[in-house]
Amino acid sequence: MEKKYKRTLVTTALPYANGPVHIGHLAGVYVPADIYTRYLRLKGEDVIMIGGSDEHGVPITIKARKEGVTPQEIVDRYHGIIKKSFEEFGISFDIYSRTTSEIHRKTASDFFRTLYDKGVFIEKTSEQYYDTEAGQFLADRYITGTCPHCKNEHAYGDQCEACGTSLNATDLINPKSTISGSAPVLRETKHWYLPLDKYEGFLREWILEGHKEWKTNVYGQCKSWLDMGLQPRAVSRDLDWGVPVPVDGAEGKVLYVWFDAPIGYISNTKELLPDKWKLYWKDSETKLVHFIGKDNIVFHCIVFPTMLKAEGSYILPENVPANEFLNLEGDKISTSRNWAVWLHEYLRDFPGKQDVLRYVLTANAPETKDNDFTWRDFQARNNNELVAIFGNFINRSIVLTHKYFEGRVPQRGELTDYDKSVLEEFKSIKNELEGYLDTYRFRDALREAMNLARIGNKYLADTEPWKLAKTDMGRVATILNIALQVSANLAIVFEPFLPFSAAKLRKLLNMGAAEWDKIGSIDILAAGSVVEPAELLFEKIDDAPIEAQVKKLHDTKLENAKAEPSVAPIKECVGFEDFMKLDIRVGTVTECCKVPKADKLLQLKIDDGLKGRTIVSGIAKHYKPEELVGKQVCFIANLEPRKLKGVLSEGMILSAEDADGKLSVVSPAANVTPGSEVK
Ligand code: 2FM
Ligand code: ZN
Repeated sequence: MEKKYKRTLVTTALPYANGPVHIGHLAGVYVPADIYTRYLRLKGEDVIMIGGSDEHGVPITIKARKEGVTPQEIVDRYHGIIKKSFEEFGISFDIYSRTTSEIHRKTASDFFRTLYDKGVFIEKTSEQYYDTEAGQFLADRYITGTCPHCKNEHAYGDQCEACGTSLNATDLINPKSTISGSAPVLRETKHWYLPLDKYEGFLREWILEGHKEWKTNVYGQCKSWLDMGLQPRAVSRDLDWGVPVPVDGAEGKVLYVWFDAPIGYISNTKELLPDKWKLYWKDSETKLVHFIGKDNIVFHCIVFPTMLKAEGSYILPENVPANEFLNLEGDKISTSRNWAVWLHEYLRDFPGKQDVLRYVLTANAPETKDNDFTWRDFQARNNNELVAIFGNFINRSIVLTHKYFEGRVPQRGELTDYDKSVLEEFKSIKNELEGYLDTYRFRDALREAMNLARIGNKYLADTEPWKLAKTDMGRVATILNIALQVSANLAIVFEPFLPFSAAKLRKLLNMGAAEWDKIGSIDILAAGSVVEPAELLFEKIDDAPIEAQVKKLHDTKLENAKAEPSVAPIKECVGFEDFMKLDIRVGTVTECCKVPKADKLLQLKIDDGLKGRTIVSGIAKHYKPEELVGKQVCFIANLEPRKLKGVLSEGMILSAEDADGKLSVVSPAANVTPGSEVK
């Protein structure tokens, strides 16, 4: 049970201002945060929702360099586009600001300085690559070279995208600066580190003991980070884009983007409420909730809380309801491959249909696992749910009111037992909705809201007032009164989810502002009050625009395939003798776990028909350990053993890799005896 708070501070991950926003952003963070905030506002609670663009960091400088413009030009462009998209989708921020604002620079700088003065940081000098031609230190992404593991010549300083191994820039063979093309040299540089390891005890207690109610994906990720052991993290960088490190002798150094970005939540609150911001950040009666995607969990549950704790005067998040990822038509959304539905393009193609997307993204939200957005599902949910259930019910109620009662809410007579049983069903909706919304289960909440529309629709279908009009107008009046009261309930219930349609409905019913407490009442609309002529809330979507979207994605796939041929060229021939040297076997996975401090690696125990062996494989991004246990895999049994992240790997698991880098382990078509040879 969460404690009772006086006010709520909702923060939403600050998107990087190096590109527009897409449906993945909306589904993962902004729609759920908006539903939650609108819900609390409807209840009359004190709540503010903070957003903004994350305008620092290396990817922005890379993009600027590519386009030959300044980083400021990049962030100005995308901040504008992103802000507009959010406005158009009704994301009701109290403020949407940016981390290049003056107030943010000062807030972040002061925050760093406070920790510095308190002696929180460790100062460490290390060797990093320096480009003598460009006269600057190089971020890992600015260095390419040959991967020491797979010999891919285009590996980055932080990762080899060919074999998936996490690298240090110093691991690369023949490193090259992407700025000048020259070979960088190692130079000493000083940085400040946040000693996360010293806060491990506090974090374990606060999260693992104190927040068992967090979503299992969030709690689980925190636990695995804590179990692996935390290391000090550098919070400064040698870069000329960001908030300067406010310490003498730190020229040319800026705060690490992940240090300054979450402070953006504080700066933006200050900008919104210069006199009252402390109430939201420093009063224990404020509930702080961070809405984020799963890739941000460690920063919001471990790094930022450590910063807040070390500073000492701030509250900590009460919850971090992070979502998993939304895929698009079966593939991971990717900006670089243009595999996305961009919000500004959606609005161009489906003008006025913001609520349809909000509905589909909530109904199919990746709350507990990655989910898939498909255009067919989008069409089906619009046509079969929004149009056929919700829209149809409202339309029939209003049209019949105009047909039989000149557009005025009729007086209700005595209720029949059937009416009472229907109303009984709808009494529990408020409680159920609150139960779901209070625990961040927005899919379930939406299903409950839709259920109310279903109840209304069924009520009209069962009572058939159009047939009674000739014989019993009193009964028709009662039925339509009830139908209109249910419609008014829907206008409240759907406000957090579909704000545009709910507002339109309230206007049709002339009902004024929505009040949450009225849910369940059948006296929202006074008898005799005017109902406007019917207007459709939702329209059917035909096949043609859907097919156009599917085609657009198909074309993107073809273009990508042309740009980077999806089938790798065949390697040089090898003699049969050489081939026969490889000993490929089948084994059964008996145990599997993640390798600590290596997000790509899994450690597998293989029953090889002999004494068993351990193999480390770079497939952690593609399989959960439990998915592999019991599975048969093919492996190279006579590969020279080598240590990977401290674990001795005795062989290599064979996997197939598609053009998108997706790995699938190779298994025999039917189970065979462990140790069987593959020939
Ligand atoms: O992952 C991202 O897009 C980051 N820009 C999120 C930052 S969230 C917060 F810390 F500002
Ligand atoms: Zn590699």
